Amino acid sequence: MTSSLPPTPVFGAALPVHAQPQVLAFLALRRSASAVTLAEPAPDTAQLDDLLRLAARVPDHGKLAPWRFIVLEGAGKAAFAARLEGLSQQRGDPQLAAKLAKLKMPPLAVVVVSSPRPAAIPAWEQQLSAGAVCATLLYAAQASGFGANWITDWYSYDAEATAILGLTEGERVAGVVLIGTPREPPMERERPDVAGLVTRWTGV
Ligand SMILES: Cc1cc2nc3c(=O)[nH]c(=O)nc-3n(C[C@H](O)[C@H](O)[C@H](O)COP(=O)(O)O)c2cc1C
Repeated sequence: MTSSLPPTPVFGAALPVHAQPQVLAFLALRRSASAVTLAEPAPDTAQLDDLLRLAARVPDHGKLAPWRFIVLEGAGKAAFAARLEGLSQQRGDPQLAAKLAKLKMPPLAVVVVSSPRPAAIPAWEQQLSAGAVCATLLYAAQASGFGANWITDWYSYDAEATAILGLTEGERVAGVVLIGTPREPPMERERPDVAGLVTRWTGV
């Protein structure tokens, strides 16, 4: 299947600025699917290419692209989960293995790796950009009609687990974005009272 997206604009092209009510309605109603409800079909190769292209289109101070993607699917994903099960057994902690269901059930997982570059841009800003990649990938998958969920879980913070994935010094897992087709619709969750989170600084 070929891309259904507009072609990547050429550098310097004037881009549209107009209301996109459908995007706003999507944002008002989108919800992550429970990871363990995600089943086939997952995005095919062309759809995944599109999702990654959209995910990489995020604010990025200094244009450093301080992130990268590791795609886990099929036998590769199963092998990674098996290695994590091995770690859990070595440590005698069955809870670690039990938590792997969220990784094992969905047909596709994209690990978004924060890879801060040596640059004047603070590492914090580079890490925030990786978070933006996770959110954009999540939203793009959901807007494509898939179910998706952004998790981290223990293996994102475990040096042996991240070494299995090939992360290097300074790299961190920003998110594991699980993608598939939900077997049941997600239910609305509690949302914060935004008014209680807003103040207006008036300078007095
Ligand atoms: C950085 C980050 C890490 C998360 N890690 C986990 C996790 O390990 N396990 C989990 O169940 N949820 C985790 N979540 C929360 C899920 O994404 C959760 O489903 C989310 O709150 C759903 O919100 P939404 O419906 O607004 O997308 C994480 C969220 C973020 C932002």
